[in-house]
Amino acid sequence: MVKILKADENSLKKAALIIREGGLVAFPTETVYGLGACAFNPTAVARIFEVKQRPRFDPIIVHIGDFKDIYKLCSKVNEKAKLLIEKFWPGPLTLVLPKSNIIPDIVTAGLDTVAVRMPSHPIALKLIKKAEVPIAAPSANLFGYLSPTTAEHVAEQLGDKIDLIIDGGKCPIGVESTVLDLTNEPTVLRLGGLPIEEIEKVIGKVKVLTLSEKPRSPGQLPRHYSPRTPLKIIKENEELTIQKNVKAGLLAFKQPRNKYKFLFKEIEVLSESGDLREAACNLFSCLHKLDKAGLDVIYAEPVPEIGLGRAIMDRLRKAEIK
Ligand code: TXA
Ligand code: MG
Repeated sequence: MVKILKADENSLKKAALIIREGGLVAFPTETVYGLGACAFNPTAVARIFEVKQRPRFDPIIVHIGDFKDIYKLCSKVNEKAKLLIEKFWPGPLTLVLPKSNIIPDIVTAGLDTVAVRMPSHPIALKLIKKAEVPIAAPSANLFGYLSPTTAEHVAEQLGDKIDLIIDGGKCPIGVESTVLDLTNEPTVLRLGGLPIEEIEKVIGKVKVLTLSEKPRSPGQLPRHYSPRTPLKIIKENEELTIQKNVKAGLLAFKQPRNKYKFLFKEIEVLSESGDLREAACNLFSCLHKLDKAGLDVIYAEPVPEIGLGRAIMDRLRKAEIK
């Protein structure tokens, strides 16, 4: 039986107790839904890996509800980290820093660094505070599949395997946090909800890890965040033709061109007005819908690669069949 409760004082109290006692709770954050366990409980964290069918070498983000907790989790917090925390926390920025000894190895997959973030979603913050422990939480989806941006998405993928889902409606940002490694030269390991342009305004130029470099973060694996239906990105100025017997769907950036309405069986529009924030927010829900429509192929329109457009294109490229 899938247990979903609307977020309120009572359900959050229950959720906090489950976390403290070693259970798993899915909860909303401003980016995507997370699958949370007590970060200090290795057995509970091991269950996250099992439920998600996630490889053990993939470390998990630790979520905190209070700024000062970063000093408990990290052995060193450098000046750049302090500047970024002041400007962007709570929010969609995850920092990778040297870890302290209190974090079990299973959380960091044996690395000597830990990824920490303070989410801004009021329900996430309340839950962490009530649990009185940091919460280790990956996105609440099966490994490699689309991230969940509603409680229903979580229920479909993991419903019967976890203890509780807290329903807080749709996630306002809709793509995962930006992961920034600050242990050496600042390096973006995963493009996400906080645009790089914003980070660079505070700490100057950052490096962006490209696909050809060794994956330090599985969000960097070439195929990830994927629907089960094959997906192709439409090239600039490409004249599409689709064979009669092929059921194709379109992930449109803006109001689609008239001729597209005849070509495609299903169309999902990311943002009628072409707003990149709105597009990011709708990305995974539109892909979930198209993936359930029984299509042979999904075509995706490219979006401009500025601001959140970079994170959107990153997700689409990783979902694309190679
Ligand atoms: O928005 C988000 O970040 C969501 C919500 C729930 O907070 N969480 C999320 O977690 O997307 P997950 O596990 O799906 O992705 C975390 C990414 C992975 O690519 C992981 O490899 C990377 O962060 N990561 C975690 N710890 C790391 C570390 N110590 N060094 C490098 N990368 C790390
Ligand atoms: Mg994930």
